[in-house]
Formats: sequence, C-alpha cells, structure tokens
Amino acid sequence: MKIAVFVSGGGTNLQAIIDNIKSGYLEGVEISLVVASNPDAFALTRAAQNGIPSTVLSVKSFASREDWDEQVLREVKASGAELIVLAGYLSLLGSAVVREYSNRIINIHPALIPSFCGAGMYGIKPHEAVLKRGVKVSGATVHFVNEHYDEGPILLQKSVDVKWDDTPEVLQKRIMKECEQVILPRAIRLIADGKVIIENNIAYVKE
Ligand code: GAR
Repeated sequence: MKIAVFVSGGGTNLQAIIDNIKSGYLEGVEISLVVASNPDAFALTRAAQNGIPSTVLSVKSFASREDWDEQVLREVKASGAELIVLAGYLSLLGSAVVREYSNRIINIHPALIPSFCGAGMYGIKPHEAVLKRGVKVSGATVHFVNEHYDEGPILLQKSVDVKWDDTPEVLQKRIMKECEQVILPRAIRLIADGKVIIENNIAYVKE
C-alpha cells in the first residue's frame, strides 16, 4: 500500500513510519510522497535522506485555496497513494482532497480526543492546556479526517500518566515517544491489513 505523508515540522512521526517500514513491521507499505506545508520543515531532510520523493505545497503560494487543493490532489493521486497520513501537519486539508480521500486520511493528534483538540490546539498547545487544567492522564489519538479539526472517527488512542513535575515540553516528548510513534504505525498496519471498518462515524478494528 502506497501512502502520502503530510508534514509541517520536525518529522519524528515520519521517521517512526520510515523506521517501521525498515524493520518490517510495515511490510508492504511504501511512502510514495512526502508533502510539506513549508520549505523549512526538517521532515523534508528526513525524506531526502531516505530517498523519498517530496514536494512543498504551501497554501500561501497559490492564488486561492481551491487552486492549492487541486494541486495537492493532483500530486497525491499521481504518486499512487491510497492513504494520506497527516503526521504533524498543521494546516486544514481542502474539501476536494477530503472528499476524494474520504475515510482514507488519518491524523495523529497529541491529546486524548475529544479533550484538548480543535482549532488552535496543535504542537505544544494541548500539553500546556493539559497541565493548566491539571488532568492526570493524557496521550495521543489517531483519527480519520473530515473537514473539521479533530472530529472524524477515532481509530486508536494511547495514554500516559501526567506527572506532578511535568513541563509542557517534557510531557510532549513522552507522548511523542510512548504514544504517537507507537499508534501511528499501528494504525497504518491495521488499515493496510483491511482490519478497519467505519460505520456511522465510528471506526471499528476487527482483530
Ligand atoms: C506531533 O506532536 C503531532 O502530534 C502534532 O505535531 C507534532 C509534530 O511532530 N500534531 C498536531 O498538533 C496536529 N493537530 P513531528 O513533526 O516531529 O512528527
């Protein structure tokens, strides 16, 4: 199964996918394209180091959102990708892409949805909000993507305890390593194996 991985930043989740392909856990999965929302994303260096084709498609460099959306769709389709993986991608996908890849787009979110999610909750922000609220458990969620931030069917979640002396940065790192980098490859494995079904906005895993 070919996948397109969308990135905006450091690309630790992209790296986790690459490592799991190399280890054989994601046998039969190939990253056919990395799409970056900005040219400075370190994820692009990771793609280049691993011989993976990449493209930078920033909304700002297109005349309209619709033009950008069409170009994203064109390049992803041309790569042969059957699944789009948003791995630290911080823009909202356009409706043409979401419609064409309905139930074939997943996103990793750094909190336990439906808490600490939605517009503006990205990167370090959910972790700051978690500590501010004093919740005792946080984690990450892989969910299918629709046209609203973090509202599509939930596929996998993994939690960690929040410690009394956590800072947002320490908590973020723990969640990336122990949750995100575990459940994102697992989600791709489950989809590639045809083990996921979606009914009435709920994702079920047949294991
Ligand atoms: C990750 O923590 C990911 O969950 C988060 O951005 C970070 C990207 O890290 N995504 C969101 O906040 C999406 N709402 P990475 O570039 O090193 O994979």
